[in-house]
Amino acid sequence: MSRTILRGRVLSFHRVPEGPDDAASYLYLEDGAVSIEDGKVVAVGDFAATERQGAEIIDHRPHLILPGFIDLHVHYVQSQMMAAYAGSLLEWLNTYTFIEEQKFSQQGHADAVAVDFYDALIRHGTTTAVAYCSSHPRSVDAFFAEAQRRNMLMIGGKVMMDRNAPEGLCDTAQSSYDDSKALLEKWHGVGRGLYAISPRFAITSTPAQMEAAQALVAEHKQAYVQTHLSENDAEISYSMELYPGSADYTGIYEDFGLLGPKTLLGHCIHLNHREAGVLADTGAVAVFCPTSNLFLGSGLFDRERLIKHGVRTGIATDIGGGTSVSMLRTLDEGYKVLQLRGQRLNPFASFHMATRGNAQALGLEETIGSIAPGCAADFVVLDAYATPTMRMRQATVSSLAEELFLLQTLGDDRSVVEVYVAGARAKSTLGGL
Ligand code: GUN
Ligand code: ZN
Repeated sequence: MSRTILRGRVLSFHRVPEGPDDAASYLYLEDGAVSIEDGKVVAVGDFAATERQGAEIIDHRPHLILPGFIDLHVHYVQSQMMAAYAGSLLEWLNTYTFIEEQKFSQQGHADAVAVDFYDALIRHGTTTAVAYCSSHPRSVDAFFAEAQRRNMLMIGGKVMMDRNAPEGLCDTAQSSYDDSKALLEKWHGVGRGLYAISPRFAITSTPAQMEAAQALVAEHKQAYVQTHLSENDAEISYSMELYPGSADYTGIYEDFGLLGPKTLLGHCIHLNHREAGVLADTGAVAVFCPTSNLFLGSGLFDRERLIKHGVRTGIATDIGGGTSVSMLRTLDEGYKVLQLRGQRLNPFASFHMATRGNAQALGLEETIGSIAPGCAADFVVLDAYATPTMRMRQATVSSLAEELFLLQTLGDDRSVVEVYVAGARAKSTLGGL
């Protein structure tokens, strides 16, 4: 069995850092060695104390080796429509998004965009993402087939939507049930792929389709569930017009049994007290999508309030409402959103969120999001000197916390030196770079 050792500055989290001085919350090795066999971490420790006999050594000094980034909410089918000029969510969906997603009825298109999407993830250091495909089953096949080719742990599913959208995107309650079930059975657990049952949001699903989603969730407890919740005022009002019997927007999903610890809810910006309590009680995850929330003018995520309620949270790009594939850019914008809320996010807490925190939101913290024995060898290697501006600023940086903050504030894909997926180099082996 061949062993590879990555040498460099290693950073991995044990738990949520409570402040910039909470050194017990993470492992940091100035000259570390990460030993990999069969795509998994087998040992982590100081390089000098590591058994190196027969191992291939890859030296990444002076760069930082972290667990690969995890993106909890992204629409791979919107990869080609980022930066679409729209006033707010519903206009953006109707004017651009629903037009763009219709292209995924073509297998060739889905296959080509999937390749570009995965290339973009890897360039930016993201090794796992939870994605919405389009309503077309072939878009799901393209998504999982490409994940399997790259040996990536990816989660995704067919969007279920049977109203308030163009005919070319609409399924029916029955066909969405049948197609989702078939796709789940085809792809869940194949390679590292995992399925997410994906009713788009209340506006585009009839009660009959919500019932279909409810049946799928009840029949497939191993699968994730993803949808959108409380992103925009007009969206909330329209949802309540469509579901007048529910207590509030969260109540719609609650009434159809869609909330649980494997449920990921994009946005969750304008929740009332009851809704926050329901999320806490069910264990559903509120996913913060800062670049999207700023771009679409949706509002400011109230992280502290949700955490005080006991709600589990995570962070994501929400491409193509989001404006960058980069989790570094996402952390930066997240920091600014929270500043506007009067909430500080320390740099360790940021990097925890994008790695182990998001893994915990998925219940996958034993598998991804940490550099620890038994975890997948999915890593990102970061360079805080990647651009002239970063080099200039780095000259005055004197702590790891400052370096991380510099990376998140000024970094992007240029700071991503290398990416490993299941122990294999993934960025430097991309074509055409
Ligand atoms: N709500 C329903 N669909 C979408 C989508 O594609 N993007 C965002 N940001 N919100 C949504
Ligand atoms: Zn979304």
